[in-house]
Amino acid sequence: MARLRVGVLISGRGSNLQALIDAAADPAYPAEIVLVISNLPEALGLQRAAQAGIARQIIAEPDRTVFATAAETALRQSGVELVALAGFMRLLDTSFVEAWRDRMVNIHPSLLPAFPGLHPQRQALAAGVRFSGCTVHFVRAEIDTGPIIAQAVVPVHDDDDQDSLAARILAAEHRLYPLAVRLYAEGRLRIEGNRVIVAGGMPPDIAALNPLEALASGRG
Ligand code: GAR
Repeated sequence: MARLRVGVLISGRGSNLQALIDAAADPAYPAEIVLVISNLPEALGLQRAAQAGIARQIIAEPDRTVFATAAETALRQSGVELVALAGFMRLLDTSFVEAWRDRMVNIHPSLLPAFPGLHPQRQALAAGVRFSGCTVHFVRAEIDTGPIIAQAVVPVHDDDDQDSLAARILAAEHRLYPLAVRLYAEGRLRIEGNRVIVAGGMPPDIAALNPLEALASGRG
């Protein structure tokens, strides 16, 4: 069966991109990464894409509308069906967001709607929460909003600083993002207002990222 064609937008390190590349290395994974776009030429993620033999495009364009037009052209030329934002740190033009409505996802290192925007780990520490985590969601015009596909929870420890918390969340991101993209690729997501309904329920591998959910999944 044809795999879903995914275009990934990055700005930096690209460790989430790497997690998607690694998942797609399995031919049984229902999606493949066909294009990586970066707004920064020095993004480390570009090297990861090169190593995996994936087409790359640098669009170092400060104007949001010009960036969107160039990205749109590249995505269309590569036959991209789903856009995955992976550490893409620029605001997207609203018409681009609308054009990809329900076909563009993002990962964010907090349990949205808590702590959107920059430095979510710092925000979590400042708020004193005991748990944080990461969220994969469909993208809407307002930053870090949109119907939530899946979340993974991690504890916040008393001796955490931003780096240690970010590292714990990042490890969860690397597991969650490929699983969430797989659900999309399998056509199992239905959006109802702000909610995302997963056909067949949340699969055990995502539930396992959240121990309480895993416990509750025996409830029948
Ligand atoms: C990740 O933690 C991702 O969730 C975050 O940037 C990091 C990128 O790391 N994204 C956002 O904050 C978007 N609002 P990576 O380049 O190694 O994947």
